[in-house]
Amino acid sequence: MPTLSTESTLNLNAIQVSKRNSANQFSVAPMLDWTNRHCRYFHRQLSKQAWLYSEMVTTGAIIYGNNLPRFLGHDDSDAPVVLQLGGSKLEELAQCAQLGEQWGYSEINLNVGCPSDRVQNNMIGACLMEHPKLVADCVAAMKACVDIPITVKCRIGIDEQEDFDLLHAFIEGLVKEGVDGVIIHARKAWLQGLSPKENRDIPPLRYDWVHQIKQSFSELPVAINGGITHLEQAREHLINGWLPESKQPLPAVDGIMLGRAIYERPYLLAEVDSLFYNESQTMLSREQVLYSMFPYIEQHLIGGGKLNQITRHMLGLFHGLPGARMWRRYLSENAFKEGAGIEVVEAAYQLVLTEMQRIEDKP
Ligand SMILES: Cc1cc2nc3c(=O)[nH]c(=O)nc-3n(C[C@H](O)[C@H](O)[C@H](O)COP(=O)(O)O)c2cc1C
Repeated sequence: MPTLSTESTLNLNAIQVSKRNSANQFSVAPMLDWTNRHCRYFHRQLSKQAWLYSEMVTTGAIIYGNNLPRFLGHDDSDAPVVLQLGGSKLEELAQCAQLGEQWGYSEINLNVGCPSDRVQNNMIGACLMEHPKLVADCVAAMKACVDIPITVKCRIGIDEQEDFDLLHAFIEGLVKEGVDGVIIHARKAWLQGLSPKENRDIPPLRYDWVHQIKQSFSELPVAINGGITHLEQAREHLINGWLPESKQPLPAVDGIMLGRAIYERPYLLAEVDSLFYNESQTMLSREQVLYSMFPYIEQHLIGGGKLNQITRHMLGLFHGLPGARMWRRYLSENAFKEGAGIEVVEAAYQLVLTEMQRIEDKP
């Protein structure tokens, strides 16, 4: 039987970055319903260094939901981990930031990018881009009561906003209140007419605007997000900067955030520690990553959890390899069943190995 060896398709120089917060590091984007604690545990097996994010949690859920373990509970091993908050009420944000710090989060991030109309009505998410003073006050309120970094994740604008100066003024307000870093999704959001999913694809990407923000605020850690699918692209933003059509080169940003690419192809993360953190440890193979999940899965099952609550985040582990589709399908069709245990994962992996063997044996 073949075992799966480590892949080293990239030959990039390791990038030196300091360790202040997620905006000057490599991070995995917050994704509602996706980056929950099980997903983060899995991602942490692949990279010891990347910053991981919680899903967005609203201040209302934390304060009135009467279930702090549900909204703030996380595995100690997922550090460095960022709690992303949704809200704009100063006292509530301050209270939740404090709770986040007490519950062991490494950083608090304010969501100013979610375009869903469910949150707009509560003054949460991207609609706040129209209220720069309020967002700056939110940062100040949180900074006043915690020692961990406070960052903001935002868009380049919303709706009819087409003016770089507006984005500049928005960031300037945050800087004045001592924001520790910004993560900018390099496209604007339409609050009416586009679904959240469409708002992640349809508005055009303006990477140049994010690099321009870095140029204007050289001391501020600035991370870029949106549409980045390969680590080589990340390297371009972090090392070479950006060359817009005007041909005036713009400086490199400090951080990079990837969302969907990591969720769909999680093994990308296995190269992050060497490429972005100068770590020399040997990359784990997919097989090693898989087996490192077994004790965690077994613990979860013993506690009454369901297998697919964890395996649904692992469907992309074999992406690009023979047997990847069989792995996905087998897990999707079996892991949700009553009583499904670790043997389901073993059987799915066996399909991958058999398929690899078949391809290898082909004349
Ligand atoms: C399923 C899903 C859920 C998301 N939930 C959040 C969220 O809770 N908070 C947030 O700031 N962004 C959220 N996003 C947006 C991502 O953080 C990211 O900004 C976006 O996907 C663009 O990055 P990407 O092209 O690397 O995926 C979500 C994206 C997806 C796909």
